[in-house]
Amino acid sequence: MDYYEKRSAEYDQTSWDHPDGETRVAEAVRTALASLSPAPTLDIGCGTGYVSRWLPGQVTLLDASTAMLSIAARRLPGARLVNARVPSLPLASRTFGRAFAANLYGHLTSAAPAELVREMRRVADEIVILDQLAGDGRFREGPEERELLDGSTMTVHKRYFTVPQLLSEVGGGDVLMNGPAFAIVRATSQPPK
Ligand SMILES: C[S@@+](CC[C@H](N)C(=O)[O-])C[C@H]1O[C@@H](n2cnc3c(N)ncnc32)[C@H](O)[C@@H]1O
Repeated sequence: MDYYEKRSAEYDQTSWDHPDGETRVAEAVRTALASLSPAPTLDIGCGTGYVSRWLPGQVTLLDASTAMLSIAARRLPGARLVNARVPSLPLASRTFGRAFAANLYGHLTSAAPAELVREMRRVADEIVILDQLAGDGRFREGPEERELLDGSTMTVHKRYFTVPQLLSEVGGGDVLMNGPAFAIVRATSQPPK
């Protein structure tokens, strides 16, 4: 079973609601997202919808995990749901004002991050990516073993960013949040060549 399918029921308590300081991060993220103007938004890798509910405007929820999507759907009743695995987005060009991805981009490997950025630019006027910063200020990536509450373990790929690295990968833009622990960058989509 996919890691996130299995983790869905315990995701919030082991991430955003974890007592080890993530609530302080959540508050910073909520404040940064509140600064955005309302726009029809595609939330890619929405998970349980914990962050999705802070996105201003009509939200479309996309995730590869049906278990995650069904939790997010309960949190955002009425949101359109898309069950799909990125980097390809099964959506028409220029459908959204904003394409957003939180804590997904840094899990993608090889060509997938660049492909996802291209796809986000294709479907939306601007792209916003939230991902985790390297604590020591040095970009790094590799496999990571994650333990679930039942004691089982699964391996994920994880990239930890610096803000300049993240900005360069989205093709330049502005920084909506720089810490604690996470960054949010925004880039405007270029017209397709
Ligand atoms: C770390 S969670 C982040 C969830 C949410 N955005 C948040 O920040 O709380 C990553 C989410 O992305 C989804 N995901 C992982 N790889 C995916 C892919 N290739 N395509 C679509 N969703 C994916 C997982 O199912 C999971 O819900």
